[in-house]
Amino acid sequence: MRRPRRMRIKDSIRELVRETKLSVENLVYPIFVIPYQEAKEPIDSMPGQFRLGYKNLLEEIREIKDLGIRAILLFGIPEYKDEIGSYAYNENGVVQNAIKMIKDKFPEITIITDVCLCSYTTHGHCGIVKDGKILNDETLEILSKVAISHAKAGADIVAPSAMMDHQVRAIRKALDDEGYIDVGIMSYSAKFFSSFYGPFRQAADSSPKFGNRSTYQMDYANAREAIIEVEMDIMEGADIVMVKPALSYLDIIYAISKKFNVPIAAYNVSGEYAMVKAASEKGWINEKDIVIEILTSIKRAGANIIITYFAKEVSKWIRNF
Ligand code: PBG
Repeated sequence: MRRPRRMRIKDSIRELVRETKLSVENLVYPIFVIPYQEAKEPIDSMPGQFRLGYKNLLEEIREIKDLGIRAILLFGIPEYKDEIGSYAYNENGVVQNAIKMIKDKFPEITIITDVCLCSYTTHGHCGIVKDGKILNDETLEILSKVAISHAKAGADIVAPSAMMDHQVRAIRKALDDEGYIDVGIMSYSAKFFSSFYGPFRQAADSSPKFGNRSTYQMDYANAREAIIEVEMDIMEGADIVMVKPALSYLDIIYAISKKFNVPIAAYNVSGEYAMVKAASEKGWINEKDIVIEILTSIKRAGANIIITYFAKEVSKWIRNF
């Protein structure tokens, strides 16, 4: 007779049959950089996360490296903003400087960079604005410049997150034309119009000053559209596709992992992080147990790569798990 409980009798049997296991190698740690030598500004909405100056950034990289984390996702918060976000492709911009320093000291770390304009534009939108509209094709030119400036500084993978149509094609072409054939693209393919980004926008000072992002980010009621977005990005040359946020979108991760043969990343975003932090600070949930459960579910759904603000804690936990 079948008795499923047989395989649950003791820890070593449970581990023997466990299907999904988190590994540090698949985690990506997001980091916010600001253009100062020394700074470590706490982000109120994301306890335990900071905006880091260059020196503190390098200290942070050493720390995560010692924990076994091998990939980071860089976000820059610039000193200046303008209408078109031109500081995003400045050769001596905050992200470009950060990349050079990390590459110099820690060449083995995989540097992934967010390619978007919202932190760099005065209006806070991810694209060029005209008469209240976010223009698609005009934005592609700027995004391509940003991607090239990151590649030139030494980024390993660029991650376009503006949700402009054909941004992957434009960036792939621009990178190839400039000779950066080995720089990969991790596309924020299925990026939903989500309230889970709230804490991030406080961290990155990237809230839209008028309207919202619903004309470019996806409606969270839609799953079929996510498949199309992913399909387009793969055709256009994405090496890795991403679903974002993660926790409320496990069905999307699952559907995509069944359909496509490319690595899938899931972004466990700021709101997901903040909710866990707030409840665990109140003693209502156990942070460690909840985080391991959440991230395991994201992996079980089909994600190969998990981008998470919990990466440092998780690395410590799973080493003696
Ligand atoms: C930039 C960008 C955002 C996030 C990643 N890249 C914010 C947004 O789209 O408004 C959100 C990440 C998070 O919430 O952790 N477009």
